Amino acid sequence: MNFAPALIQALRSARHIAVLTGAGVSAESGLPTFRDVQTGLWSQFRPEDLATPEAFQRNPKLVWDWYAWRRSLVERAQPNPGHLMLAEMERRVPQFTLITQNVDGLHQLAGSRNVIELHGNIRRYKCFDCQAPYALDDADWEAPPRCPHCGGLIRPDVVWFGESLPTQAYWAALEAAQGCDVFFSIGTSGRVEPAASLPRVARRARATVVTINPDVETHSESHSYAIHGKAGEVLPALVRAAWG
Ligand code: APR
Repeated sequence: MNFAPALIQALRSARHIAVLTGAGVSAESGLPTFRDVQTGLWSQFRPEDLATPEAFQRNPKLVWDWYAWRRSLVERAQPNPGHLMLAEMERRVPQFTLITQNVDGLHQLAGSRNVIELHGNIRRYKCFDCQAPYALDDADWEAPPRCPHCGGLIRPDVVWFGESLPTQAYWAALEAAQGCDVFFSIGTSGRVEPAASLPRVARRARATVVTINPDVETHSESHSYAIHGKAGEVLPALVRAAWG
């Protein structure tokens, strides 16, 4: 796999690299992306119909069971070379910020340290009403447990459609997009705001922007590179080309 010499030079001289990842980075770990057709039992539902506070209030058990299914997939998944190479990249540059829309925790499992979880984490739980964190043990899987503090229903600690992002996480992501030298957008369809605007913020701040996705055709123009391919294949080649 060949890369533009100017891109390799930009990576080697970068003081701060920021990366935005989406579900495509976890696809090679066997986790379905959001725009893949839902499989099996869940094929009759769209994520937009389940991942909302209204859906949870209307039918807590249905939404709880969907997350139980998704969590079972996450617990069987392992980081893939894309995750591992992002952890390696973090070790090669003075400052590195990994902004993820994914809730599977695979970046942390792969060794990434500075991770901003824009949409929460499916392995964490909290009370729907008072937001108190809740430590789930497997016995609770049958139905949403009740909060010991207020009696509210326990829910996954993820951001649902219509909910706002964790403020601190979003501002940290915005600051990274504004201050980095190179901004990667990897494995995301760029359909959900405000994450989708971060590459534009980086471009306006004159960063080099790199998109990695099987859905794009490889092309480059000044300070903007699109690389056609899977994260698990492109990233190992790119890290090797830049840092040996
Ligand atoms: N490597 C890189 N990209 C890939 C790969 C791969 N192996 N496989 C698929 N892709 C790309 C697809 O081409 C698509 O552009 O990953 C992207 C996945 O897009 P989505 O399914 O829309 O996932 P994402 O962009 O993360 O969705 C953003 O939307 O549903 C909400 O909150 C949810 O965080 C999610 C947000």
